[in-house]
This record gives sequence, C-alpha cells and structure tokens, in this order.
Amino acid sequence: MLRDSFGRHITDLRLSVTDRCNFQCVYCKPQLEGRWVDRRELLTFEELERVARIFVSLGIEKIRITGGEPLVRQNVESLIGRIARIPGLRDLCMTTNAYILADKVEELRKVGLQRVSISLDTLNSEKFTAITGQDSFQKVLQGIDAALAAGLKPVKVNAVIMRDINDDELIDFARFARDKGVVFRFIEFMPLDADHQWSRNRVVTLEEMLRIISAFKGLVPLPPHTLSETARRFQFEDGDGEIGIIASVSRPFCGQCSRIRLTADGKIRTCLFSIVEYDLRALLRSGAGDSELCDFIRDVVDHKEERHHINDPDFQPPRRDMSLIGG
Ligand code: GTP
Ligand code: 5AD
Ligand code: SF4
Repeated sequence: MLRDSFGRHITDLRLSVTDRCNFQCVYCKPQLEGRWVDRRELLTFEELERVARIFVSLGIEKIRITGGEPLVRQNVESLIGRIARIPGLRDLCMTTNAYILADKVEELRKVGLQRVSISLDTLNSEKFTAITGQDSFQKVLQGIDAALAAGLKPVKVNAVIMRDINDDELIDFARFARDKGVVFRFIEFMPLDADHQWSRNRVVTLEEMLRIISAFKGLVPLPPHTLSETARRFQFEDGDGEIGIIASVSRPFCGQCSRIRLTADGKIRTCLFSIVEYDLRALLRSGAGDSELCDFIRDVVDHKEERHHINDPDFQPPRRDMSLIGG
C-alpha cells in the first residue's frame, strides 16, 4: 500500500502519455510553451507498462490515461491493451477531447479500456471553435455517441465553467446530461492555464452552479462512489440524469486525495499543483531494478503535499500547464 505522510492511501495513478494536443483550449493552451517535448524524452510503451506494473504492485487500483490528448500518441491502443492485462488493476479509464474517439473507440473497448471522460465546454458550435481553436464540435458529439454505443459506461462529459464564457449554458448542459444519458460534470476553473488568464471572478462556484441548475430542475445529492471522488454527485429529482460538480476552488477535496501523476516525460507529480517533480525516468534509464523503483516511489509519495494553496494569498501556479501535467 502507498500511504503518504498525512495517512492518505494512494490508489489512483494518472498517466500522461503525451504532452501533445490537437486542441488549444483557452483554459489550457498547450502550445504556448513553444515546443512539444522531444519524442526521446517521452517514456516508451515498454517503460510505461513497466512503471504501471510497479505502481499496481504497490497498491494502485485505478489508472487514468491522460495527455495532452492521449489519442494523438501513435498506437496508444496497444499500450492500453498491455496495461489492461496487469493483474490487480480494477479501473482503467481515459480523459480525451474525443476528436478522434469515434474512429478508435471500438478498438479501445476491445483491448480493455473501461470508460472515458470527454471534455466538452460548450454546446454551441461556433463557441466550441473559439474555445478549442478547432472547428470540430460535430466530431466531438460523434465521439460521445460512439462511446455510448460502445458501452463504455458511464460516459462522463466534463466542462470547465468560466464566467462570461460558458456560464450561460449550465441549464443546456443539464438538459444534455438528461437527453444523452451521460454524467455531466461541471468543473470550477482552476489556475492552471499557461497564459495565466485565471482570476477569481472567472470562477463559478459550486454554490452558484447548484442554485442555477436546481432552479431548472430539483437535484438530490448522491453518495460518493469513493471517499476520494473529485465530483459531488447529484441526480435530478425525477430520477432522470446525473451530474457532478468538481469544486476544487470553493470546496477543496485534498483531505481525501488518492491521486498521483506521471508526466509524459516520466516525472512524478504528487499534486496537480506541485512545484517540485521527481525524475522517475532518470532512474528507469539508469538501469534501476524494480525494488529500487518501488523504494523511490514510496519515498516520493511520502512527500505528497497536504493540499493546494489556490485560496492562500501567496499562491504560486505550477510552472507546467495542464497539457504537461495531464488533466
Ligand atoms: P472519475 O474516476 O471518473 O471520478 O474521474 P476523475 O474525476 O478523477 O477524473 P477526470 O479526469 O474526469 O477529472 C475531472 C477534473 O477534475 C479534472 O479535469 C480536473 O479539473 C479535476 N481534478 C482531477 N483530479 C484532481 C485533483 O487531484 N485535484 C484537483 N484539484 N482537481 C482534480
Ligand atoms: N481548470 C480546471 N480544469 C481544467 N482542465 C484543464 N485545465 C483546467 C483548468 N484550468 C481539465 C479539463 C480538461 C481536462 C484535460 O483537464 O476538464 O478537459
Ligand atoms: Fe490532491 Fe493536490 Fe488535487 Fe488537492 S490539489 S486533490 S492534494 S492533487
């Protein structure tokens, strides 16, 4: 079992497989850094599989494949197939922008992907182009339909809610959840964007979202699936449709955090907001054995931060933006 110095069990690994992305979302801006990570710096599939196996042997039960956009890593389905076969792994899921999901979803399901979370920040096609820099709203809708048709249940759809950008669509998103049968999750905007556009008055809080959505239709809270779940879950009072609100800013959930991250270039991050990283790749490439890697990981976990400091006056955003950290 991986246990940090605050007694939290670490059971959830977010594995970024590429820093590249085919979108340029306003809240993330992956290309602003100026260059993509050189291919030689990325962990190979062999390295990723080995690392995943080691993490699972240490008690990781859930692996989320992230990016950048994971589906732009060539042949990612073969990596997912290899990870899916690791004994002891209970949940294998992916976060994707769904731009090429419709073409890949059947194969992904076959090799063992269990479910997907799809990012969709607006239901307006023109606004979609403005937010993502890609005229591909229809393709993303097709991706969502394909994930539902493939039975990757539950299909979760994530929207980062930003004031004056998409906060006028809360009710449309709620309707979408009900009509499509997806779990729609409303995410408070966090200061993770590369060009530092975040400001507190851009954050629409859980309280505000609940007020607006429940005026459209009453909501009943649902119990969490696990204590470390990011989203607070709600069902509409008529039983039709589920939503979640991820209130990282107004109601931080760090006290129950079970997450650790590995960047595409092999650095461990013990928090989304870490300002230090631990170079697992260097150790891997120095020829370290499994037990040495296990000791390193245990030691890193022991240094996991207690919480984020978004709400403290001296808050410093992480140097890397979300596309490098892996959502
Ligand atoms: P489920 O297993 O489906 O509940 O997944 P999840 O909520 O862990 O994963 P997902 O990738 O869908 O995360 C949704 C959003 O929650 C992310 O895009 C982030 O905005 C936010 N989030 C995820 N993990 C963390 C975390 O550790 N800390 C904070 N502050 N926010 C997080
Ligand atoms: N605030 C909140 N969530 C974010 N994501 C990316 N940047 C931010 C941010 N600044 C989440 C989005 C995106 C996923 C990859 O990470 O949900 O879809
Ligand atoms: Fe965990 Fe850090 Fe996220 Fe808090 S901000 S929930 S400690 S990863």
